[in-house]
Amino acid sequence: MCGIVGYLGQKEALPIIVDGLKYLEYRGYDSAGVAVLHNGRISVVKAVGKINDLEQELKKVRLPGSLGIGHTRWATHGRPSLGNSHPHATADGRIVLVHNGIIENYNVLKMQLQAEGCVFQSETDTEVLAQLIGKYYTDDLAGAVLSALRDVTGTYAIAVLAKDRPEQLVVAKKASPLCLGLGKNEVFVGSDAIAFIKHTNKVVYLKDGEVATLTPQTLDIRDMQGKKVSGKVHKLALDHSSIEKGEYPHYMLKEIYEQPRAVQDTLDGRISPQGDEVIFTELEKYSEYLIGINKIVIAACGTSWHAGLIAEYLLEKHARVPVEVDYAAEFRYRYPVLDARTLVVTISQSGETADTIAAIGEAQALGAKVLSIVNVPSSTIARNSDMVIYTYAGREIGVASTKAFTTQLAVLCLLTVYLGRLRCSMTEDYARNMLQNLKCVPNEISKIFKEVENIQKIARAFHKHSNALYLGRGVGFPIALEGALKLKEISYIHAEGYPAAEMKHGPIALIDENMPTVVLAFKGRRYEKILGNIMEVKARKGQLIAIASESNEDIARVADAVIRIPDATESISAILAVLPLQLLAYYVAVEKGCPVDQPRNLAKSVTVE
Ligand code: M6R
Repeated sequence: MCGIVGYLGQKEALPIIVDGLKYLEYRGYDSAGVAVLHNGRISVVKAVGKINDLEQELKKVRLPGSLGIGHTRWATHGRPSLGNSHPHATADGRIVLVHNGIIENYNVLKMQLQAEGCVFQSETDTEVLAQLIGKYYTDDLAGAVLSALRDVTGTYAIAVLAKDRPEQLVVAKKASPLCLGLGKNEVFVGSDAIAFIKHTNKVVYLKDGEVATLTPQTLDIRDMQGKKVSGKVHKLALDHSSIEKGEYPHYMLKEIYEQPRAVQDTLDGRISPQGDEVIFTELEKYSEYLIGINKIVIAACGTSWHAGLIAEYLLEKHARVPVEVDYAAEFRYRYPVLDARTLVVTISQSGETADTIAAIGEAQALGAKVLSIVNVPSSTIARNSDMVIYTYAGREIGVASTKAFTTQLAVLCLLTVYLGRLRCSMTEDYARNMLQNLKCVPNEISKIFKEVENIQKIARAFHKHSNALYLGRGVGFPIALEGALKLKEISYIHAEGYPAAEMKHGPIALIDENMPTVVLAFKGRRYEKILGNIMEVKARKGQLIAIASESNEDIARVADAVIRIPDATESISAILAVLPLQLLAYYVAVEKGCPVDQPRNLAKSVTVE
């Protein structure tokens, strides 16, 4: 969380920095700020709130200069306020920096610095780092940064300016993402390449423990011992138009509508021409290992964790492998029992979620191999894992995850067939059937968009409530959790997902005419049971919205509203059923006037533990 940008070159830095910050706003939007160096003076402008608020402040001043840094904040240490906003500076204004991460020993360092006479302006951990660099700085900026970082424990991606170094920008990284864009006589810095991709696609990903000195023409990277290291230049294929909203009012809506294409791209080239095998060339060299595993442990967070829960049903039922699913943060600290025959699967859209990264380290330390399902190429999770399967959702910018989830489910279906066939627990016909159903998903998703008017109508009544219950059985249960999460995060309506049968053990007490219940009622082994649960809700005057298959005629007699999805097997219905729930959450949030793409207190990628 928090986004940092930097520019050093021949052009005016400010517009490039502000534009970069807009693309990084998904990382946090509690406050924002910029610093630009010109004629031996560093000018700093900050604002509480979003980049729009910063732009209003910037209208009041002129900040010329071709060296600058910027920051968009997701508050950790210190509330969102002007004083706590970045950039932070030394008392004499000689050093100015932006930071993403947490300086864990900041209190001890702060006390030491105060004893040495430093006066602090903010409550942040970051200001400690600025003061520390200031303490070490004489005329070697990179050296001072290195010395300061040796005193620090915690995580950081930083960009540092010194007012007497107009041709230098120093950056460093540990556990928070940071990449450098190399242009012609100019250089860019970003927490994510999206910040500068419209200027250059030549990108160097800084590694943990590296400090780099940038000039418009040179790049000098050192490790923590000060030894020179080389940085690999990647050519990114990111198409700039893919990061624009286009005709859509919100990224979330655009990304919901991109799902047929995203799932298709994720399936393309991964099903054999005969339709009975999955092609995962990325797993080939591990096939012996995968045949020998005796357990799969899935670790992930949020929406990706919900995908993991669905995988538990799929892998156990169809591939006959025992599966456990954990929140990544819990997995890491609960002393899991793993060995060389455990496959740990992590799932992540961003590839930068701190808890998931930590879970990978823990799993590998215990001797397990890690297979990660990731959307962002070259992300930390992709780099740290033994095996990687990419989802090809394309860039997901809306904070509420949508297309990443359906593409994760597509990969997990493929993985189920892959492991089932590899371990001879699935017949050829069974595999062919599953894959045939999977191939239909992009088209079936498209059909769901005809329900939009119906969903908008439901949202108009739904948005007045302050609580909601989502119920499902089997694979419908994780979908209920996902529907409830979507509603909570973008509309601020309290919602709970529950296994429908569990309702009787407590949550049923909540049901009355003010509590809408959304039920996943697709056909399958548990359908009659779910109908029973529906009747229990109705008997207590609950308002009932059912997500049901097209051919299900009896549901309309009991539900107050029905949203239709195409007829499909239970596993495929799970993928399809999340679409109406995403749309419902979206239109409820729109009805309430909520900032859909930037819900309060959230950030797209959670890079702190
Ligand atoms: O990037 P990741 O998939 O690792 O992110 C995990 C969660 O932070 C993420 O799914 C979060 O819950 C979303 N806001 C859900 O919409």
